[in-house]
Amino acid sequence: MPTCLTTRFTERFGLDHPIALAPMDKISGGALAAAVSEAGGLGLIGGGYADGPWLAQALAQAGNRPVGVGFITWSALEHPETVEIALNANPKALMVSFGDAEPLVEAAQAKGIPVIWQVQTLAQAKQALAAHADVIVAQGQEAGGHGMSRGLMSLLPTIRDLAGKEQIILGAGGIADGRGLAAVMMLGGDGVLMGTRFWACQEASGPQSAKDRMLGLGGDDTIRSKVFDVARDAGWPWHFTGRVVRNRFLNQWHDDPDLQARAPEAQAAYDASDEEDYGTRVLIAGEALDLIRDLPTAAEIVERTSAEAASLLRGAASTL
Ligand SMILES: Cc1cc2nc3c(=O)[nH]c(=O)nc-3n(C[C@H](O)[C@H](O)[C@H](O)COP(=O)(O)O)c2cc1C
Repeated sequence: MPTCLTTRFTERFGLDHPIALAPMDKISGGALAAAVSEAGGLGLIGGGYADGPWLAQALAQAGNRPVGVGFITWSALEHPETVEIALNANPKALMVSFGDAEPLVEAAQAKGIPVIWQVQTLAQAKQALAAHADVIVAQGQEAGGHGMSRGLMSLLPTIRDLAGKEQIILGAGGIADGRGLAAVMMLGGDGVLMGTRFWACQEASGPQSAKDRMLGLGGDDTIRSKVFDVARDAGWPWHFTGRVVRNRFLNQWHDDPDLQARAPEAQAAYDASDEEDYGTRVLIAGEALDLIRDLPTAAEIVERTSAEAASLLRGAASTL
């Protein structure tokens, strides 16, 4: 379905809708990324912690559908062989987030692959601009998964002011429907990157029990925390926190000043639990849970988000 929302982002990437799938580690597998791209958005496979064999399999699953790949920067820099797998597949874009991505930008752009750099602060936006990132994603603290503490409402327009009107900028964090997309466009964005909304959809790779659980939760049930990074020994730089669903395990450790010192104890308890024991295991999701009450297909999410935003923007004139 062609959109009436034409932006610098849709024009640059040949999209029908100004909507990108967040590269949510192994949740954004080949099937989900391909479904978003087929629906006219930009699907990004979650290269996450740079697991080469998994990435090769996800790319194969996407087949000849035009998808990109997104990495956690600090992890990708430790696994150049996995970055090579991504770049050799000639992805539609390489997305980087969380760290000094200049070497990845250079490697991708040398092959003519556009780079999407997700930032959490103005200082990072300046860094991404200096590196000539093709797209900047302004990520607000509302977002599911890793990030920092700034809200989207002032971060995005300030990055627009800084970057000038030609730079392609997306908004991310707390967006799950056309209201969020329309708001981002009014803040100066060219589109959105959505994670949590696509996690709760049919093609997302992940247990059905997790998807079902999200339908009964809201933003108030989430919190930014370090607990699961420590419990999973994930190697995250300390200044990034992860927005996750609160559970018994998190409540036990979140305010413990000795969390780092007691890491082996937390890790042992975490590892001993069943993978679908949501009293202990992490469920990564953002404040957008408030707006998620169904498990549609990725195509339905893309189409209704875009159509609702177009209708709202068209109707806005009647309030003048
Ligand atoms: C389950 C989950 C996993 C995520 N994993 C990654 C990741 O591997 N790499 C990354 O750059 N961002 C990751 N993110 C963050 C997204 O890039 C994006 O900023 C976020 O999903 C946007 O906010 P929203 O969840 O409110 O839509 C993840 C988000 C979620 C919800």
